[in-house]
Amino acid sequence: MDFKENVILLNHPLLQHKITILRDKSTGTNDFRRIVKEIAVLEGYEALRHLKTELVEVNTPIEKTMQPTISGKKLCFVPILRAGLGMVEGLLELVPSAKVGHIGLYRDEVTHIPHEYYCKLPDNLDQREVYVLDPMLATGGSAVDAVALLKKKGAKTIRFICIIAAPEGIKRFIDEYPDIPLYVGALDRCLNENAYICPGLGDAGDRIFGTVKN
Ligand code: PRP
Ligand code: URA
Repeated sequence: MDFKENVILLNHPLLQHKITILRDKSTGTNDFRRIVKEIAVLEGYEALRHLKTELVEVNTPIEKTMQPTISGKKLCFVPILRAGLGMVEGLLELVPSAKVGHIGLYRDEVTHIPHEYYCKLPDNLDQREVYVLDPMLATGGSAVDAVALLKKKGAKTIRFICIIAAPEGIKRFIDEYPDIPLYVGALDRCLNENAYICPGLGDAGDRIFGTVKN
């Protein structure tokens, strides 16, 4: 696949190792949830690499010095319900002061078209850097709709973080939003006839919340 510059494939060995554990159908809910959070920390570390800093004065035990602290726009994390919820805690570990919005979307099982059922976002979205979180980018429909909603609500600076993406979803996303950085933990082969990612990890929401037998 020919990547555009805005697709950042994060192929760190630690990430690959943890994603392999998620893929294993014998990984139970408890471990699955914990590892999704750990992956979110690792991906967040990369996705926050561009944050601006400014120098502030600090007194060390030795001397007075000017040193960097994070500055610039306030951050907002927006998980797509349900599965994106599994990533929020990981991002909040990195930036505890960030605001959190929620977008609820579910895919119709037959058409695979996403339907919105919930939206609650912080004020002044235009003044925030928004990070959309969803482990799975399959057809890309949910990601595209979530970003459209955020733009409609005023968000100007948006980044998208997923764990596993299908080529179909990446194409749909970058065709629609060529300027929005898309962070991907692993690029998989294709979608199957039910629009599930192959090899993938199954239904991320069900596996995080234990709503079906693994
Ligand atoms: C999953 C996943 C994404 C979406 C991806 O959610 O978490 O939001 O599917 O598929 P797409 O790229 O084809 O839109 P789902 O709709 O199953 O809801 P859930 O998280 O509540 O299980
Ligand atoms: N949503 C999931 O949770 N898994 C997939 O493989 C596709 C969509």
